[in-house]
This record gives sequence, C-alpha cells and structure tokens, in this order.
Amino acid sequence: MSEVNIDNVKAGFEKDILTVKDLRQIEDIRIKYLSRNGLLAKLFDELKNASPDEKPMLGKSLNSLRNEITEKFVSLKSGIESASQKLASKIDLSLPGVERTIGSKHLLTQTLDEIKTIFKGLGFSVFEGPELESDYNNFEALNFPFDHPARDMQDTYFINKDFLLRTHTSPVQIRVMTEQKPPVRVIMPGRVYRNEAVSSRSYCMFHQVEGLYVDTDVTFAELKGTLVSFARLFYGDDFKYRFRPSFFPFTEPSAEMDITCFLCHGEGCKVCKQTGWLEILGCGMVDPNVFKYVNYDPEKYTGYAFGMGIERTAMLKYGIDDIRVFFDNDLRFLKQF
Ligand code: PHE
Repeated sequence: MSEVNIDNVKAGFEKDILTVKDLRQIEDIRIKYLSRNGLLAKLFDELKNASPDEKPMLGKSLNSLRNEITEKFVSLKSGIESASQKLASKIDLSLPGVERTIGSKHLLTQTLDEIKTIFKGLGFSVFEGPELESDYNNFEALNFPFDHPARDMQDTYFINKDFLLRTHTSPVQIRVMTEQKPPVRVIMPGRVYRNEAVSSRSYCMFHQVEGLYVDTDVTFAELKGTLVSFARLFYGDDFKYRFRPSFFPFTEPSAEMDITCFLCHGEGCKVCKQTGWLEILGCGMVDPNVFKYVNYDPEKYTGYAFGMGIERTAMLKYGIDDIRVFFDNDLRFLKQF
C-alpha cells in the first residue's frame, strides 16, 4: 500500500462532497467511503500487507484520514438534513388544495348547440359567413333597394361605402345560394351588429341563427311545420303558437311566430307586456327578387327562410330579463348554466 492511495481517496472524497445536494447523495457517499466495503475499509484491509516498518506510520495516516472524512461527512449530512426539514416545515399539509376551475360552455354556446342539434335532426346542415359584409350581400341582394326606408330598420355600422358589419345573418343566405345549387337546406349562425343604444333589451352586438330551405315546391305549410317542430323540441309542449303577418324585404309573404308566454301561459304579465304572447322569430317565403340576384330560376324554385336571435331565444327559455348579462362575464350568472 502506498501514500498515493490514501491521497487518491482523500482527493476523491473532497471532490465528491462538492456536488452533494440531498440525503440520497449523502447516503451514496457513506456507502462509497465509510461502509464496511467502502474505500476506507479497503485501505485498512491492505494495512496488513504493509511491512512492519511502514505499519505504524501508515496506520496513523489512515486513522487521521478516517477521522477527517467522518467529521466532514457528519457535518455535511446534518447541514442537508436541517435544510430539508426547514423546507418541509413550510409545507402546510392541512391547507385545502387549490381548486382548479374547469371552464364550461357559455349559455349562448349551449343554446346554439341545442338549436343546431334540433335542425340537424330536421335535415339542415350548418354554414357560416363573415361578420364583415358587403352592402351588396347585407342589403342589395336581399331586395333592400338603395335608399329604401327598410334599410333604416337596422342601424348599421358602416366600414366604408361598400362594406359594413352585418346587421343580420341573412346575407349568408346570398353566400350559400351563390355557391350551391338547389336543393339547399342550411342554418347559418353567427354574430351581428347594430348601432343601437345598449339597454336591457338591446345590445350593439348579438347572435342570430338564419335558416334557409330552397327546392322545387317548397310551401308555407312546410315552413310552419318545421318551425313548430323546432319550437316543440326547444321550448317543450306546453304552449300555443301563432303566425302573424309581418314584413321583410327578402321574404314574401313574411310572418313572425309567437308562442304563449312561458310565465303567465297567455294570461298577460310583465314579460309579455300583458299580451300573453312572445315573439320568437321572423320568417317567410324567399322573395322571387332574391332568387334573381343569385341566379336561381324563380319559376322553378320556391323556398322559405327564418331568423331568430340567440340571446332572445335563451332569455325566453330561461327567463332572463337583461341581455347585458350575456356579455358581462359575471361568473355568478354564467355558473348557473
Ligand atoms: N333577418 C331578419 C332580422 O334580422 C330575420 C329574418 C330572417 C326574417 C329570415 C325572415 C327571414 O330581423
């Protein structure tokens, strides 16, 4: 055995302890140097091979090496132990866990999902158009002639002379009919914009679902049948309905569909403004003039269209009396659905 071995072990130990960070690594050091098969034990083992002259010196060096290593090891270990205890005492296991909020669908999305499911079941597919529209699609091709007073029915946000934020989803009808030949049977949901004073009843942005069915021999009776089926599936069986004559430039004849008030069942109350009836949508037979704009033959095809506000639909179904709650992002409201 030579002094070099002792030096090597000492140097190796000094180097190893520099990187020790936790109790596991401390244990590795103990096994490597101080255990029964460790490096120190090996050095002591080899002592018996040394000559009688060397033995006392070597024994002395080995003893002091062992003392040095043991001392350093013990202080390192207690340092690491107290550090990890401090860390552990900071963790309060009795604290309740952090509640992770799982998002849910907004009531408007839920309502639209439900409307889509019902109309898909009735054979409709879904088509979407852009919110920035041309004056042509939003008005002209829908038979709102230039300077026609009907344009004032909807207060428009114009981008410039030719483009605007769509005021209804009806321009998507024009897009569908320009792209597809009959038969078409689609619903078209999306955001619409109107420059109106914000109040409990109106907002500058809201959502509509448009419906369109064009084929040979489509009749007003089919329009009624489809909308009544929808209303029964969506609002339940407990109401009467009626179709009132109305006016839209792009449908002729036009109608509005009412159902009896869900609150007073037709008796008259605040929600239905004492009429007993709630208007749920506008509809009508596609005006032949519109067919001319999209190159459909008005002699060959007929069709119906309808449109409803999604906020309004949800307000009626859930008895909500202020449209602004949809956009306030108040969790106390949103979490109820
Ligand atoms: N676009 C009409 C509105 O916004 C609703 C409507 C759609 C009426 C389709 C008839 C047919 O008021």
